[in-house]
Amino acid sequence: MKQVLPSTRRSDKALRTVSIIGTGSYLPEKVLTNEDLSRIVDTNDEWITTRTGIKERRVAAKDEYTSDMAAKAALKAIEQANISPEEINLILVATATPDMLFPATACFVQKKIGATGAACLDISAACAGFLFGIEIAEQFITSHTYDTVLVIGADKLTSITNWTDRNTCVLFGDAAGAAILRHRGGSHGVISTYIGSDGQYSDILFMPGGGSRCPITRENVDLNLATIHMSGKEVYKQAVTAMVSAAQKAVEQAGLSVQDIACVIPHQANLRIIEGIADRLDIPLERFYVNLDRYGNTSAAAVAVALDEANRTGRIKPGDYILMVVFGGGLTWASTVIEW
Ligand code: ACO
Repeated sequence: MKQVLPSTRRSDKALRTVSIIGTGSYLPEKVLTNEDLSRIVDTNDEWITTRTGIKERRVAAKDEYTSDMAAKAALKAIEQANISPEEINLILVATATPDMLFPATACFVQKKIGATGAACLDISAACAGFLFGIEIAEQFITSHTYDTVLVIGADKLTSITNWTDRNTCVLFGDAAGAAILRHRGGSHGVISTYIGSDGQYSDILFMPGGGSRCPITRENVDLNLATIHMSGKEVYKQAVTAMVSAAQKAVEQAGLSVQDIACVIPHQANLRIIEGIADRLDIPLERFYVNLDRYGNTSAAAVAVALDEANRTGRIKPGDYILMVVFGGGLTWASTVIEW
């Protein structure tokens, strides 16, 4: 007997384009300067500035969790998109510092913003997570599975920072950034996306404790296992190589050349990494949006916050081609080209 397919079958419909229709971000109030850090570990402003470009970072309050920052960023994106929270079909929260191992931080966000109709899940792709979220959202929207997706990058890295390790503690900060994605007729929106991973390097940037492999015990906490462990030089090398290659792939897939890109929004880890990428891609540094001097590396939030700032300050304008490119523990990397 011939099977009767539902009229809403996804493959019956043409793929549709996806745009970012609203952005938002949230930075905690407390500022921690390089000067402040020099009173905690053996470091100084000159070393941190010349090696990283970072001058200060934000630190969330003790009772301010990843979901609190995420919800605040989300509400700003919702307001700019001029939608109601009930219209959101899916909430994706990219984070390496969830409120709890479960439930998903996205569920806490759902409750805080009143997005009662949404399905909720977290993405574990470290610093690259926000663009993994954009790619997932795009797939759901182009295929007509969902109309409206909220993607958030949020991290409270100061909750997993080893404040006695000067190699790492100077690098990180807390923040959240959000975007609302939806089909918007007449606009190209997201033109290309690319994501990649290499588990062979999972031991150069990781947090060994807190999962099933090394559960939280007094002994493990004393050994600082529930904090970030990083081989800085190795990460640096991998970051430049992977981000250059990812950027080239997204631009190529978009049918553009790097000269067409009006603004590059890269992961905000280290100014020297960004300079290395600019050099290899042959894009002037002035075309890169950089805010790491103010916020440090905020992991999954970094590129989302930078996108929101670039959007709200008019740094990116309708019709501009923008390139976003990120890199994180895993290893993970991702890139996207968007016509704004
Ligand atoms: N203050 C003063 N001295 C320091 C500090 C500090 N905060 N940290 C390290 N040093 C010292 C080291 O002990 C070392 O001293 P020694 O020569 O006496 O042993 C010296 O400075 C040089 O240390 P290196 O590790 O070689 O410094 P490097 O130039 O590689 O810079 C850094 C370190 C900034 C971490 C760099 O490797 C880097 O940026 N790596 C990329 C990693 C990164 O950005 N990670 C962020 C997370 S990754 C992500 O977001 C995806």
